[in-house]
Amino acid sequence: MTMPQAKLRKPELDYPRPLHRRMSFADFKRIPRQPGWKQEYYGGKAHITPSPTMVSLLLNLAPRESVDRPGIRAVTEADAGALLQPFLDAFRQTPEYVEYSAEAFKKSAVKYIAGFFGRARGQWSPVSVVMENKNGIIAAALIKRGQTLPRLDCLFVCPAQARKGLATRMVNHVVNELLGQGETKLLSYALLANEASLAWHHHFGFQEVPDLWVASSRWHAYAHQLDLHRQANDLTDSELAGLAERTAFWRAEVDRLRELEKRDFWAAHPQFD
Ligand SMILES: CC(C)(COP(=O)(O)OP(=O)(O)OC[C@H]1O[C@@H](n2cnc3c(N)ncnc32)[C@H](O)[C@@H]1OP(=O)(O)O)[C@@H](O)C(=O)NCCC(=O)NCCS
Repeated sequence: MTMPQAKLRKPELDYPRPLHRRMSFADFKRIPRQPGWKQEYYGGKAHITPSPTMVSLLLNLAPRESVDRPGIRAVTEADAGALLQPFLDAFRQTPEYVEYSAEAFKKSAVKYIAGFFGRARGQWSPVSVVMENKNGIIAAALIKRGQTLPRLDCLFVCPAQARKGLATRMVNHVVNELLGQGETKLLSYALLANEASLAWHHHFGFQEVPDLWVASSRWHAYAHQLDLHRQANDLTDSELAGLAERTAFWRAEVDRLRELEKRDFWAAHPQFD
């Protein structure tokens, strides 16, 4: 499946922001919808927040460029405390946590790390890695083994080190280790609202697992954008054609998955252990 890709924002604008703003309903209807974001109107205000829609992704494992570089090492349970600050730095602005208070965010991060080393979502895998510089941990690729597949449970890089290939290097390392253990696939999830995460997964070679909910979210958002831009007449012909193509693609995918759903519900709603 070749998806027409939406244009990504510049790196400094990676994460669209939530919005809670007083405005008329007419103005609210003119805000372009984004895949993975809820757009609601109540109390005389527009409320735009990340939706919990997740994209499931699978990677067929094949040997990766050798990555024996200083700085990458296996994670250990003794790293639990040192993982907290870089986790907070990396996720502070992401759609996953942007609506959390500082206190709730920290609590949730502590819970995530404890769960990773605990029994939540399967067994933590010793192929998990961290990357360090002289100041400590700056990035991590944390793997869990479910009943059927290994999963990239969490991947993060401190913002100051972003776009230097660190996530790619760490996961290259993980892939080679997993191959050594006889694994053939790696599962991952990305929040549909987290464009940077999705872009990274696509760049690394992960394929999206078709999902009716995700396809519907994209179709509705692009159809709404197309309506608005047609009314406003503010795009070039080729931009408009690109958006129309994206809308048609996702509409066709929704139709296909609805038919599939009638025959086999779970084939249109992927579930892994
Ligand atoms: C997503 C994340 C792990 C990427 O780490 P990274 O080390 O910056 O990624 P890499 O340098 O390996 O990126 C490789 C490619 O992925 C894509 N990519 C990575 N970050 C991107 C971004 N913010 N926007 C668009 N594309 C991006 C690009 O194609 C990039 O290649 P390029 O830089 O040559 O254009 C990092 O941004 C991050 O930690 N984000 C916050 C936490 C998070 O959302 N984690 C994922 C969910 S668990």
